[in-house]
Amino acid sequence: MAAHTKTELLRALNDALGAEYGALWLLPQHMAQLEDEELRRQLKLIADVELEHAEKSAQMIYSLGGEPNADLPQLRPRRGAREILEAHLEGEKEAIALYTRALELTDDPKIGEMLEKMRRDEEGHQRLLQRALSRL
Ligand SMILES: [Fe+2]
Ligand SMILES: [Fe+2]
Repeated sequence: MAAHTKTELLRALNDALGAEYGALWLLPQHMAQLEDEELRRQLKLIADVELEHAEKSAQMIYSLGGEPNADLPQLRPRRGAREILEAHLEGEKEAIALYTRALELTDDPKIGEMLEKMRRDEEGHQRLLQRALSRL
């Protein structure tokens, strides 16, 4: 892999790691706020997967010889089910875009496979959040 491509890939993976941190920071306070048990359960399912994604992103960064150096993004906690679901839907779209960018930068089949799996997870979250929004 060319050095500049590797730098770009590390940047994309650190951006993705930061996005996962952001979701993991918001989700518990949003779950605490929601009264609907089913919605809380769905956000918990998403949080478990985002934690896995944060670990996998960091693993990929280490395997490329980099250091995880993402900051916690400055995010505003939302109020109310609609705003909460819309905020996480935006986050999922951002995550899909970040993993797509990372996929375009790698020719390593193992990393590619991990990234594709993570992107599919985010697409699943996107559908789940869209369905939850349509039921409000
Ligand atoms: Fe994720
Ligand atoms: Fe997600």
